[in-house]
Parts: sequence; C-alpha cells; structure tokens
Amino acid sequence: MANHSERAVVVLAAGAGTRMKSDRQKTLHEIGGRSLLSHSLHAAAGVHPTYLVAVVGHQRDQVSPEVEHIAEQMQVEIRQAIQEEQNGTGHAVQIGLTAIPEFNGTVVVTNGDVPLLTAETIEALVDKHEREAAAVTVLSLEFENPTGYGRIIRDQTGDVREIVEEKDANDEQRKVKEVNSGVFAFDGAVLRDALTRITSDNAQGELYITDVLGIARGDGKKVAAFLAPDARELAGVNDRVQLAEAGKELNRRLVERAMRDGATVIDPATTWIGVDVEIGRDVIIHPNTQLWGSTVIGDGAVIGPDTTLTDMEVGARAKVVRTQGELGVIGEEASVGPFTYIRPGTELGARGKLGGFVESKNAKIGEGSKVPHLTYIGDATVGVESNIGASSVFANYDGVKKHHTTIGDYCRTGSDTMFVAPVTVGDGAYTGAGTVVTQDVPAGALAIKEGRQRNIEGWVEENRPGTDAAEAAKQAREK
Ligand code: UD1
Ligand code: MG
Repeated sequence: MANHSERAVVVLAAGAGTRMKSDRQKTLHEIGGRSLLSHSLHAAAGVHPTYLVAVVGHQRDQVSPEVEHIAEQMQVEIRQAIQEEQNGTGHAVQIGLTAIPEFNGTVVVTNGDVPLLTAETIEALVDKHEREAAAVTVLSLEFENPTGYGRIIRDQTGDVREIVEEKDANDEQRKVKEVNSGVFAFDGAVLRDALTRITSDNAQGELYITDVLGIARGDGKKVAAFLAPDARELAGVNDRVQLAEAGKELNRRLVERAMRDGATVIDPATTWIGVDVEIGRDVIIHPNTQLWGSTVIGDGAVIGPDTTLTDMEVGARAKVVRTQGELGVIGEEASVGPFTYIRPGTELGARGKLGGFVESKNAKIGEGSKVPHLTYIGDATVGVESNIGASSVFANYDGVKKHHTTIGDYCRTGSDTMFVAPVTVGDGAYTGAGTVVTQDVPAGALAIKEGRQRNIEGWVEENRPGTDAAEAAKQAREK
C-alpha cells in the first residue's frame, strides 16, 4: 500500500526538440514570460512533492542553470538527473529515479514541454490514483485526430490494458481516439520493478515508459486512466506553431483571470499578460497592451492603448497611455503618455506627469511634479510640485561619466532649458526659456542666459530677394 504522504515528481526535459529548429533547448522557449520548463516545474511543485526531479540531457549546459534558477525563484529543491543519451522515455525515468532514495509513495511523471498543465490537474490525477489504489494511472486525452500519440488500449470490460505507440500500432489500434498525454501516476515500487523489465524491442528501438502499464497489468495489478477534464491543458509544444498556440491559450486564461478579478479588458485578443503580473480592481486595459514581468497595476488605473510595461509598478488611478516602460514606478493618480519612454529607475510621484515624447531614466520625480512635453530627464531628482518646461534636456553625460541634476520643490523651469549636470536648482527657482544651466541656481532665483536678442532690420529683403518671405516682408513694410 502506497504511503500517501510521500510523492515524487519526475519532469522529463532531456529531449532534443528538433522540430523547434532552434539553438535554444526546446523547454527554454517562453510563453507568458516564463520558460516552458518553468511552467512545468511550477505545476509539479504545486503538488508539494517530497522529491522534485528534472531529467536533463540535450543542451544541458543551457537547461541546468535554468533549473537552478527556477529552484531559487520557487524556493524549492529540484534535483537534476542527467540522461547522457536519450534512449527513450522509460530510460529517462530510470535515470530520474537514481536522483532520489528508493521509496514507495506515488511517482508522478510529466514532461517539460506541456506548459499549460496545472497543479490542480496533477493533484486530481494523483488523488484518483491513490483513492483507487492503482498501480499506474495515466492521464489520458480524447482527440478527434490522435495522430502521433500513444493509444490507450482497453479490454472488453473497459479496463486499460496497455499503451501502444503510433509507430507500433495496428490499423485497429490507430483508430482509438483516447491517447496518452505523457503524464502518469505510478506506485513507486511497481514502477521500479517494471523499469527493470522494459525492453527496446519496438519500432523506435527505445525504452518506453508506456510499457510499464502492460507489465503492471500482466502482473495482475490495477492500471487505470484519468481522462483530462480539459485537453487543451495537455497541448505539447514541439514546434513554433504550437508554441504560439500554447502562448495564446495561456494568455486567454490570464486575461480571463484579470477580468474575473475585476479588471475591464476592452480587447482580450490584443491584451497580453504575463503569469506574474498583478492587476487590481476596476483597472481598465485598452487594446494592444502588454504587461510583463512582475508588473503590478493598482486599483482603478487606466492602461493603454498601445502600452508595454515590464516590471513596472503603477499606482491606483494612474493613467498610462501609449507608453513603453521598464523597471519604474508610477505614483497614484499620476499621468503618463502618450508616446512616453520610461527606463529603469524612474519613480514618478503621486499626481505627477510624464507627458508626450518624454524619456526618463533613473529619475525621481516628486509628488505633483510635471515633465509634460518633449523632454529627456535622466539621472535626476525633482522635488514636489515643480514644472519642467517643454523640450528640456537633462544633459547627464559628459562623454565619459554620468552626472546628477537636482531640482527643488515648486520650481518653474522654462522651455528648452539644458541642465548640464552636475547642477542643482534650489526650491522655488525659475529658469528662462532656452537657458543652458551650467551653475547651481539658488532658491528663488531666475536663471537666464546672457546676451540680449538683436534684430537686424530689413535683413530678409536684402539677403533673400525674390523669395516669398521677402515679398511678405515688403508688403508688411508698405502697410
Ligand atoms: C510520448 C509517449 C506517447 C504520448 C506522447 C505525449 C512514450 C514512448 N510515448 O511520445 O505515448 O502520447 O509522449 O506527448 O513515452 N524525453 C527524455 N529522454 C528521452 C526521450 C524523451 O527526456 O530519452 C522527454 C522529452 O524531452 C519529452 C518527453 O520525454 O519531454 C516525451 O518525449 P517525446 O520524444 O516527445 O515522446 P513522444 O514520441 O511524443
Ligand atoms: Mg512529444
């Protein structure tokens, strides 16, 4: 009898994935901002196994570090087993079991390329398997077109007898529409024993995990199938077309989750949300918006259209229109866009504004301060309730090093001011339009550039005779 408290999950990810036609190992391709392998390991970890094993092999110089990274992120131990040569799924599981001590609990086998499989479905499989005290339970699927999959063969009474691979199947067996998803729950002892008895006497000359079912059944043990409630969850990714399909299905779920949690998504089809994104209540998301990484959107915020935010924090009731942003913070009730580029280290205070054609980087902008038009603000600190005039540039780079600009509270700097860093503008100070600020401006002062404007009368008629401008000037003079 299985010890129900002990579980192991073995995730197979040693295959080559040749149909991806990629230099990157198949399971390292991403959907929803996470690698396929990460999705699989998250689902596996979700059933809280005593042991979690990843079987790696092909391109493991890429895969192993990703497994370590995922383990660190999830704060769980993931053991790695190395399958040097890919001799089949049965061989992969044999290798996987070498990474854990002999135990008789339930061993779940799953694949690194089924990113939509949820912990709930694995849990339901294990639950049925343990409740029925089965030796093996396979998670099965029903497909109108079962081509390529192993077929679930049942006897006259409907009990599962064996799994036959497409390449080994006869015409009658090929007609069966119930197929093997590649996910199983095994009794640990039965699995260990059967794995010593599988052979590569089949069409592909490989060791098949699927043969364990026939062996267990032959020993008089109970073999069962659990039909997956939603076949879409088991969609495997073998090529780029399936990668896009899986990505779309995952996104459909994530957008739906956001809507069920109280966000309005105007156009689910053009809205993309990563798995780790958090979206508050009464948020409105306009079309063509992408939210990635650890982005958090506060209650009542309005995002988009045409906005991409990665690892951004957006405060409650803020408005962000046609914006690209990464690793920045937008305060409550702040306003951003349209056509705004927020780079890492930007912190816009509550009620602040970053307007059209503004680029910001490493800039802390205080509450109620505004950078409304056509400005580059980099390596800067701006106090509260200040206004930066249109078309200003924080000239932070001297060609070798970056320098910082500090602007005080309640400042009004003129249009086209150049702040040549390092420079400090005191509280309540003003600058005139077009000023190149190279020295500190004391609190309350007006900084203006030297040199008064000179008008050379009649210059156009004299120097540009015959032009429309000269003609207009002549008519104005004769009025
Ligand atoms: C397998 C099943 C088939 C099932 C299908 C579901 C077998 C014999 N067949 O077929 O019944 O319908 O999955 O998708 O199990 N892997 C390794 N090492 C190996 C071989 C494979 O780690 O030596 C891994 C692969 O990376 C992959 C998984 O095992 O994640 C499945 O292998 P794959 O070659 O895709 O098996 P299929 O032929 O699709
Ligand atoms: Mg496959």
